[in-house]
Amino acid sequence: MTDLKPDTGAFFTRDRTWHPPAYTPDYKTTVLRSPQRALLALDNTLSEITGPVFGHAILGELDNDLIHNFARPGEAAIGERIIVHGRVLDESGRAVPDALIEVWQANAGGRYRHKKEGYLAALDPNFGGCGRCITDENGNYRFRTVKPGPYPWPNGPNDWRPAHIHFSVFGHGFGQRLITQMYFEGDPLIWRCPIVRTIPDRRAVELLIAPLDMANTIPMDARTYKFDIVLRGRRSTLFENRLDGN
Ligand SMILES: [Fe+2]
Repeated sequence: MTDLKPDTGAFFTRDRTWHPPAYTPDYKTTVLRSPQRALLALDNTLSEITGPVFGHAILGELDNDLIHNFARPGEAAIGERIIVHGRVLDESGRAVPDALIEVWQANAGGRYRHKKEGYLAALDPNFGGCGRCITDENGNYRFRTVKPGPYPWPNGPNDWRPAHIHFSVFGHGFGQRLITQMYFEGDPLIWRCPIVRTIPDRRAVELLIAPLDMANTIPMDARTYKFDIVLRGRRSTLFENRLDGN
């Protein structure tokens, strides 16, 4: 059983204006994806709230090393070597241990290893593009990879995604999965991206941009970017039990 003791800290209501509206026609696929009818709320079941609890033992030795986890022996992925690290924190700034972080990304040329990927950039035979790690007792996570390239996508006549890494964060229950994207400081494509531009509040975008962390760079090896993830409403089942899910 995970810890379900009532949280005696401050209560933070969810700010829905922080998130993009579901219907944003400049991001073309939202036209068909956005709900046409009122939302239905489904009750949680106990297992969605209490499990799974991930242990560090599930990780393979190279799971947090995208430079090598798909590479042939003695070889490595091509690209700018980087480390991404940070902390997972709850809405009160406390560390969230044992959160499973899964990441996926394009290779250094901006190409995904996926059968539906159509971009002409070359595949890297030594790069798979997926990895995972689990936060330690202080909420820290860390993985090594190559910096992904930007890529064009069929939206407007000439839209490019900024370099980004996709993140999935599992809390202590299946009902606690959050998905986001991390961007890189200084990328001029961030503010041109139709997906980024669906986010109404500039501060919300800035929290998705990882700054270069020179203090933790490994000389002659890899630059480092720092990306902290702050969860909101992690314990909301204890406070918000209305059937409409608000
Ligand atoms: Fe992507």
